[in-house]
Amino acid sequence: MKHEIRVCMGSSCFARGNMNNLELIENFISENNLETTLELVGAHCQNECENGPHIFIDNEKYDEVNEEKLQKILEGLR
Ligand code: FES
Repeated sequence: MKHEIRVCMGSSCFARGNMNNLELIENFISENNLETTLELVGAHCQNECENGPHIFIDNEKYDEVNEEKLQKILEGLR
């Protein structure tokens, strides 16, 4: 099954961790050869900056995504 990972690239989310999260996701995809099942896209600010950084998986929103949380989310997508 193909999944879409949407990373909020608005300035708040980007500064609060999505710059690093984006790199982690890119590395996870390439290290696990998941290019065909995980589609990575960027998003504009979702107007919910206060509990960012946000990542959306198949339109499900995750708040305050730090490295540990992201790792668990990604493991669930293998
Ligand atoms: S920058 Fe991500 S919700 Fe505003």
